[in-house]
Amino acid sequence: MKILVTGGAGFIGSHVVDLFIQEGHSVVVVDNLSSGKIENVNPVAVFYKADILSSDIEEIMKIEKPDVVSHYAAQISVTYSVKNPLLDMEVNIKGTVNLLENCVRYGVKKFIFASTGGALYGELEYIPANESHPVRPLSPYAIAKFSAEKYLFYYHRVYGLNYISLRYSNVYGPRQDPHGEAGVVAIFTQRMLRGEQPVINGDGEQTRDYIFVRDVARANLLALKSDKTGEYNIATGKETTVNEIFRVLKELTKSLVPEVRGKAMKGEPRRSVLSWEKAARELGFKPAVSLKDGMKETVAFFRASTSTARNSSV
Ligand SMILES: NC(=O)c1ccc[n+]([C@@H]2O[C@H](COP(=O)([O-])OP(=O)(O)OC[C@H]3O[C@@H](n4cnc5c(N)ncnc54)[C@H](O)[C@@H]3O)[C@@H](O)[C@H]2O)c1
Repeated sequence: MKILVTGGAGFIGSHVVDLFIQEGHSVVVVDNLSSGKIENVNPVAVFYKADILSSDIEEIMKIEKPDVVSHYAAQISVTYSVKNPLLDMEVNIKGTVNLLENCVRYGVKKFIFASTGGALYGELEYIPANESHPVRPLSPYAIAKFSAEKYLFYYHRVYGLNYISLRYSNVYGPRQDPHGEAGVVAIFTQRMLRGEQPVINGDGEQTRDYIFVRDVARANLLALKSDKTGEYNIATGKETTVNEIFRVLKELTKSLVPEVRGKAMKGEPRRSVLSWEKAARELGFKPAVSLKDGMKETVAFFRASTSTARNSSV
């Protein structure tokens, strides 16, 4: 199959591209490299440096005629979306609709979308949250993701475009940007390896559901093979506190930094954990990588890239 992956130079998208290629699919990557890196792009993939908002998308679709579009390109910062809701909307809603219009125009059969379970449900009413949990987005980022899902529903009903929206919990692993706000595992790991002090927001007892990026890539492969349409949580169903993350990473990096606590993030949900039962039942999904193993691999990745950066700067 020919799959066009937007955001394929980014953290999750590049792992999805690697797996699709490993499975024998032909992959076209579209990324404007605003946060993604060219070195993340699998050399077997065809690469276009292009913006999902631009008319280049139409040209690329016309030339490549993909069977499937797997959409990862996005403005990913919740904080940025709060400060710049219009710009968030521009990329995350308008960019998605530009792709969907071209999918219909050029006969794409399926659209796989990177949504967010972590942000969509807001403060949880029950735990773990399944796909029927009320959607109460607390940020423009989450509102935009939810709007994109509604457009998927519309394009499916009106134009017959099949879709699967994967609602991820907190994804972590190699290639995650340690400078953003999104990945506490990446941020803590890099700081600890550099001997810098990571700061725990609030009391550190807030929980999240951390899923390893390769499990997420596998969910995409299952979505590709499935004939279902709809929304699926992709998560582990396990809650981990930020304090636990800090302690495991401290041990793995052999860091000596003390536990330092800062201000709690305003509006941050206290607990977040998602049920993946629907994805298990309908897609055959099961998370396979334990937090300890995933964190070991993440630390090894950052250790290698930290020492490369150090060597190249001397
Ligand atoms: N990381 C998580 O925990 C998580 C959780 C839920 C959902 N998601 C979603 O998964 C997707 C990938 O996230 P990520 O963590 O890999 O982020 P990332 O920043 O590493 O990847 C996003 C990619 O999109 C590209 N991009 C951004 N704007 C673009 C545009 N206008 N045109 C073309 N390319 C553009 C960037 O250069 C980057 O390569 C996003 O849609 C994000 O909302 C991530």
